[in-house]
This record gives sequence, C-alpha cells and structure tokens, in this order.
Amino acid sequence: MKISVIGCGYLGAVHAASMAELGHDVVGIEVDAAKAALLAGGRAPFYEPGFEDLLGRSLASGRLRFSPDIADAAGCAVHFLCVGTPQKRGEYAADLRYVEAATESLLAVLEPGQLVVGKSTVPVGTAGRLAELVGEKVPGAMLAWNPEFLREGYAVQDTLHPDRLVYGLPSGPDGDVARARLDEVYASIVATDTPLVLTDYATAEMVKTAANSFLATKISFINAMAELCEATGADVKQLADAIGHDDRIGRKFLNAGLGFGGGCLPKDIRAFMARAGELGADQALTFLREVDNINMRRRIRMVELAREVCDGSLLGKRVAVLGAAFKPDSDDIRDSPALNVAAMLQLQGATVQVTDPAAGENIRRSWPQLMVVDTPEEAADRADAVLLLTEWRQYLELDPVAFGALVSSRKVLDGRNALDRERWVAAGWSYRALGRRSD
Ligand code: UDX
Repeated sequence: MKISVIGCGYLGAVHAASMAELGHDVVGIEVDAAKAALLAGGRAPFYEPGFEDLLGRSLASGRLRFSPDIADAAGCAVHFLCVGTPQKRGEYAADLRYVEAATESLLAVLEPGQLVVGKSTVPVGTAGRLAELVGEKVPGAMLAWNPEFLREGYAVQDTLHPDRLVYGLPSGPDGDVARARLDEVYASIVATDTPLVLTDYATAEMVKTAANSFLATKISFINAMAELCEATGADVKQLADAIGHDDRIGRKFLNAGLGFGGGCLPKDIRAFMARAGELGADQALTFLREVDNINMRRRIRMVELAREVCDGSLLGKRVAVLGAAFKPDSDDIRDSPALNVAAMLQLQGATVQVTDPAAGENIRRSWPQLMVVDTPEEAADRADAVLLLTEWRQYLELDPVAFGALVSSRKVLDGRNALDRERWVAAGWSYRALGRRSD
C-alpha cells in the first residue's frame, strides 16, 4: 500500500521505517529539509537502539523515501499524521499548531477515498474537529484516530510488536472502510492476535492520555510512598516488591526515584487537565496536579540529599552527575529530572560535572552553562559526591572499588534506586537513595 507519514520526528520517523518494514511503499514528509535529508541518508536525528538498522534496511529495500514537500504524499491511500503536540509556553494546554498546519497542507493533495490517520497525542475532541474539516474540504476522504504507545528506547519493538492496536473510527460505512484499510496496513500485526480495540474518536484519543496518566500516577504513588519511607525509616524498594507481588498491582512502573520526565508523560497529564477544564470536568483530574507535584518534589529532595551529604552546603563542592537523559537508552533531555537536578546543584554553588552516554551533544546545545564530560571517570574526578540520576546499564556495572579511587569522598546518591547497594557499601562507599534508609 502507498502510505505517507507526515512529520518525521521521533514518532513519525520510526513509524515510516516500520511501515516500510511491513512491506508498504512509504514516503516520510518532513518540513525540516535538513532532517529529511539526514533520514534519506540513513542517519537517525536522535538516539534510538535499533532504529538506524531498521532505517537502513527500509531505505535499501527501495520502499522508503523522505521529502520536505507535501506534494510527494499525493496518491497515497493512507496519510499518517505524526507531528508533535508540545505543551504551550506558560500554559498546561497542548499546542496544536503543528497538527493544524499538517492537516491544512495535506488537504491540498488529499483525494476522495483516501484515509487520514492521526497518531499524535491530542486533546480529546481534536479528531472529531479534523474529521469535519477533512469531510468538508475533500468530500469522500476519511479520518481515523490510531494512537501510538511507543516508549523511547523500545520504539522499534513497540511499533512492530505493539501491545494493542486502537482504531478510533468514523460512524457508518466510512468506519468499515477505514477499519479494513487499517487492517491492511497492519496485516502482519493483526495476524498475530494482537488485541484490537475498535472504538470512536473520543475514546481512542482518551485511551492514550488515560494510559499515560495512569503510568504517571503509578510512579507518583510509589514516590509518595518513598516520601513516607523517608519519614519513617521504611524501605521503598522492598515495599514496591512486596505490593508488586499482588497481580492486581504489578511490579512494573513502581520504581521509586527521581520520577518521570521526557516529552510525553509530563506534558500529556498537563494537557489532559487543561482539556478537562475546558470541558467543565476539571474536578475529575485534580489528582493529576498532585501527581505532577509529587513528581517535581522528588527533584528538590534529591538536591537536599546532596546538600546533606556535602556537610550542609554545596558551595564549592564537586559533584559528579551520572546520566542526564530523562531515561536510559535515550538522548532525550526534554523535561529531564536528571538535568533539572544538575542545574539546581549548580545554582547552589556546586561544581557539577555531568556525563551521559548519549545526551552529551543535546546538553551542550541546550544547556551550555553545564559542564559536560565524556566518561563517568572524568565526572568523578575528585568529586565530593557522586549522583546516579539516569540508570544507564554501564553506570550500574561500574566497579565501585576502582571508581572509589577517583573521588575525594566515597559518597554515592542513587536517584533511581538502581545501584547494587551491597557492592557499593562493601567498597567503602556511603550509599544514600530516595525512599531508603541511610546506612
Ligand atoms: C511514555 C509511555 O510509556 C509510552 O507508552 C507513551 O507512548 C509515551 O510516554 P516514554 O516517555 O518513552 O514513554 O518513557 P517511559 O518508559 O514510560 O518512562 C517515563 C518516565 O518515567 C521516565 O522518566 C522514567 O525514568 C520514569 N519512570 C518509569 C520511573 O520513574 N519509574 C518507573 O517505575 C518507570
């Protein structure tokens, strides 16, 4: 099938290459000509394990190309909308300008019988509005909403082997046509008995925001428990293990620490609250404000803990920060808790040396005031405290004995409850973590 993917950021680039992998003839439309050229040359504009291989394979197959010109989307049976919906500056609401601009430009090439498929995370009600616009400007063209649940670091796997497919479909005969078209797009996935949810636009839009809100709530729940553990001397890691044994709760997403960040969870819960307000249902989501507050408080607590272990003052202290991306296996520093903490430490007078296996370039570009070094060893040079803020595997595998020879004081703060406490303590380190007793 001929498919266009409009917007080749994180979501769109992975989606375009994945659709070519599934056997479709795909054109990725990216208005940033430099980015389109980079992708066409087989280079990923972001760090994502497995993506460059997939991109290379898809380009070599001749089934994938990229273009900055929407005219190249003409004649496609399906047009995926994959543009970003960032948080508006100074507001909670989502900024829909890219979705609107992409739809507007698509109308120029859209033909009757073609299907527009929204994948971006949007405020509930957006799909209905866009469907009206599409129907009015190009009678006979259709729209469906098919949210994407990919996680950074697992984007390729999540796209090719999703947990579920959700189709938000128009009512009436168009719904049947749209469903059949999407089934054809995802034929090899549908054949694997992947759960398929057929629903209306509003439910499909809400599935995405509800899922992200639930995940954020689960993280903030365990982080609230961590606050209580700190007040009582209990251990949040053991607590999470114990409650996680209950199948109804589950252990996943109960890792207490610095909390959530990135380009999705924080802005999605805020946009959800804003939309609920517009709909007169804000009370239903006031708990998400607390979810957000708990999340932000962890960062402040981490800075307090660092100050505590540095004998009450960060002024003039050398602090090594291991990890700056919002999570491992990503170079994404959007709303990164780690970077936020590093910046706060520096503001309080510490000399902060940040290292990250993938995000270094992004930090140098966006946070030139922070000192970035290439290796954990350089970061640890004469450090008064070492902070693990993003749990990259290579940091978990560091040898605490050899590492201890580099620092001026063996104090480690585990912001992700991810280090092997016993190993570090055995190597003579004082180990502190969020939600756990100090030794
Ligand atoms: C998320 C959703 O998981 C995905 O389905 C959606 O499509 C986009 O948003 P992503 O932002 O890539 O994906 O990261 P995710 O793995 O969900 O982690 C989000 C944040 O939560 C990270 O900062 C991570 O460090 C943090 N987290 C996760 C915790 O603090 N504790 C946990 O137990 C799990």
